Amino acid sequence: MGSVMKTYNIVVLRGDGIGPEIIDAALQVLEAVEERSGNFQLALQFHEAGAAYYRQTGTNLSQDTFAACERADAILKGPMGLPEVRNPDGTEAGILGGVLRKGLDLYANIRPIRLFPEVSSALAGRRAGDIDYVIVRENTEGAYFSRGRGDVTPEGVRDIISITRAGTERIVRYAFELARKRAGAPQDNVKRVTCIDKSNVLRGFVLFRQIFLEIGEQYPDIEKDCLYADAAAQALVLWPERFAVIVCENFLGDIFSDLGAATAGGLGFCGSANIGAAHAMFETTHGSAPSLAGKNKANPLSAILAAAMMLDHLGESTAKDRIVEAVEAVCKGKKVWIDSDGCPVEGTRAVAEAVCDVIKET
Ligand code: IPM
Ligand code: MN
Repeated sequence: MGSVMKTYNIVVLRGDGIGPEIIDAALQVLEAVEERSGNFQLALQFHEAGAAYYRQTGTNLSQDTFAACERADAILKGPMGLPEVRNPDGTEAGILGGVLRKGLDLYANIRPIRLFPEVSSALAGRRAGDIDYVIVRENTEGAYFSRGRGDVTPEGVRDIISITRAGTERIVRYAFELARKRAGAPQDNVKRVTCIDKSNVLRGFVLFRQIFLEIGEQYPDIEKDCLYADAAAQALVLWPERFAVIVCENFLGDIFSDLGAATAGGLGFCGSANIGAAHAMFETTHGSAPSLAGKNKANPLSAILAAAMMLDHLGESTAKDRIVEAVEAVCKGKKVWIDSDGCPVEGTRAVAEAVCDVIKET
C-alpha cells in the first residue's frame, strides 16, 4: 500500500505589528517540517484581517474570511490590534476574539508555560524542567462575556461576568482530560489540576469551583487543587513547579498566562491553541508589539510553537515533535539569546533559520 499524502487547509491571518514577520517565520518552519515529514501538505490560504484591515475597510474580518475560517482545518493567526485603531466605544478595533473565539465557539484556550533549556527565567534558580504547566483558559464567557455589551449609564459602566454551568463543565472536563495525557507537575510528578478562581468573593466563581469539584470526582486519578486568584499570583511566582494544569475563567486566564510567560523567558516563548468542538485556531499569547514591527527583532518562537500545536491538533504529532525538539536544540545551543526587551539578539529570521536547520539535519 502506498502512503497517502494528507492535505490540510489552513487559513493564515498574518496580523498587525510584528504579526507578519513572526508568522512568516512559522511558515518557513512549517515548510521545513512538511518537507522533512513527506506525508502531509498544508494548503495555505492567506486573508487580511485585524486593525490595519479595519482602518481600510471598517471591519476587522470580512464575512468571506470568516466563512473561510469555518471551512478550514485550522487557522494560524498572528497577533492583531493597533493601539490607535479604536471602535467608537473606545475598545480596540483590530482584536478578533469576539469574532473568532466566540464566533467559532473556540471554548478552550490552551497556553503552555514552559521554560526551555538555557533560557533564563525571571525567577532565581529555575532551570528547564522546573516550569512546565498548561493554563486552560475558558475562552467564551467569564468577564469577557461583557465584550461589546457593557451597560453604560451617566454614572458609569457596568460589565457583566457570566459563568454558566455548561460553559464551565466543558472547560473543566478539557482540563482533566489534558492532565491525564500530560506528565505530572515538575515538583512531585503528580497529575494535578489547579482551579484558580475568586470564589471567596463572587458567586459566579462559587459555581465555577463547585463544578470543578463535581467533575473532578470523575477523575480519581487526578489531584484536585484550588487557589484563590490572589494567592495563585503569588504561588505562580514562588512555586511554579507545583503546577501541571491550571483551569480558570477567561479574564483570570488572560492575566495569568502573561504572568506565567514572564517566569518562562517571556511571551516570545508562548504559543497557544484555541480549540472548539468543530474548529481550531493557533496564535501567539502576546500582542502585536507595534514598536518592534518590521525590525527583525521579535522572537518568532511563540508563532513557531503555535504552529507546532496546530500540527498536533491535525494529528501530525511526529511533525509537532520535530518542531518542539528543534526549538529545544536551538535553545540548548544558546542560539536564542534574549535581551532585556524579550527579543533574541540574533534577530527574528536567524532564530527561524536555526530551527529550520535542525529540522533538516535530524
Ligand atoms: C490574549 C489577548 C487578547 C485577550 C486580547 C488581544 C483581546 O490579550 O489573547 O490573551 O484578551 O484575550
Ligand atoms: Mn492576553
